[in-house]
Amino acid sequence: MLTDDTVYAAMEPHEPGQFATHATPLVRNCWYVAARRSEIGRTPFARTFLDTDVVLYRTEAGQPVAMRNRCPHRSFPLVRGKLAGDRLICGYHGMEFEPDGVCTRMPALSSTPSTVTVRTYPIADRGPLTWIWMGAPDLADESLIPDTSWLADANWGTVTGDFHIDADYVSMDENLIDQTHFPFLHPDTVGTPEYARSKLSASTDNDQVVIRRELRDSPPPGVYGKPAQIMDKRVDRTSEARFVSPALHVAFAAIHDPAPDSGKPAHYRYNITHCFTPETNTSIHYWWFNSRDYRPDDTSIDSFLLDAHKQAYHEDLEALEWIMQVVKNDADPQIDLSFAPDKPGLMARRIMYRLAMREA
Ligand code: FES
Ligand SMILES: [Fe+2]
Repeated sequence: MLTDDTVYAAMEPHEPGQFATHATPLVRNCWYVAARRSEIGRTPFARTFLDTDVVLYRTEAGQPVAMRNRCPHRSFPLVRGKLAGDRLICGYHGMEFEPDGVCTRMPALSSTPSTVTVRTYPIADRGPLTWIWMGAPDLADESLIPDTSWLADANWGTVTGDFHIDADYVSMDENLIDQTHFPFLHPDTVGTPEYARSKLSASTDNDQVVIRRELRDSPPPGVYGKPAQIMDKRVDRTSEARFVSPALHVAFAAIHDPAPDSGKPAHYRYNITHCFTPETNTSIHYWWFNSRDYRPDDTSIDSFLLDAHKQAYHEDLEALEWIMQVVKNDADPQIDLSFAPDKPGLMARRIMYRLAMREA
């Protein structure tokens, strides 16, 4: 593992071409979230991932299927066809495709050509999410699907939401690892001035970026302190935010109340999960989850956290869409002016650039 100083030094000089932007080819060899598991059922539905239209459904046994949403005969969208058992039947001339994409019937012919297929994509359920692999099929390895096990753990209470964003996933990845915007874009929720000034350490760990912060003896931010009812306290706070892959960012926050009221815990943990899947170079499917390790069934905490996070993430969404409009509309290319606190985001963008170039 490299320390922050070695990484920062290794990043010089800052050639702009070394960092991913919205124009960098999308990273394909990566597990991305396709949908919430509950969205995929016996009614096929279509969604675009990495510029490719895909139809999703489940077999009668409940296995998810991801198939190119384009019939190889005349490009009819297969989502407009219908299911017969596990087979998807094209709605134009009736070609029938098995879940592995092999065509087993073309009604206009007396015998079916044995080599006709439609592309399918590796897909797997994990907890409340279903992940898809849009890259080289022989590299799809389900053991590489990142851990989000807390989302399926009954000891954790989770609130969740999703957005479609007209911005690029590179900006989203950078936004989530850039904590210096918190007090300005999110003053009423996650941002406190003390937090913005607290020292952070950033490091890379394989193709991940990890940033850690510690803040001792300070008021908790409202979003954590209010549901735990410790706003009158001074607490210690640690957080680890991790760029796991272009598809996933997780943050683990812990609050320690050194003098808990009787019957109340001394520790509160929050795991925050952000999943984003590029639809195109300039649009994203985004799912977020905020999980806590206390009072998992308390619906008043759920509604507070849901409202607070919806607001915070909507602020990010708006900011990124505004930036995308500027980038698209302004004739001048932007050469980003970066400062030392931008380095964690640049580290993530450099990893994304390297991953993209490895596939080029
Ligand atoms: S377009 Fe699908 S069978 Fe003709
Ligand atoms: Fe933000």
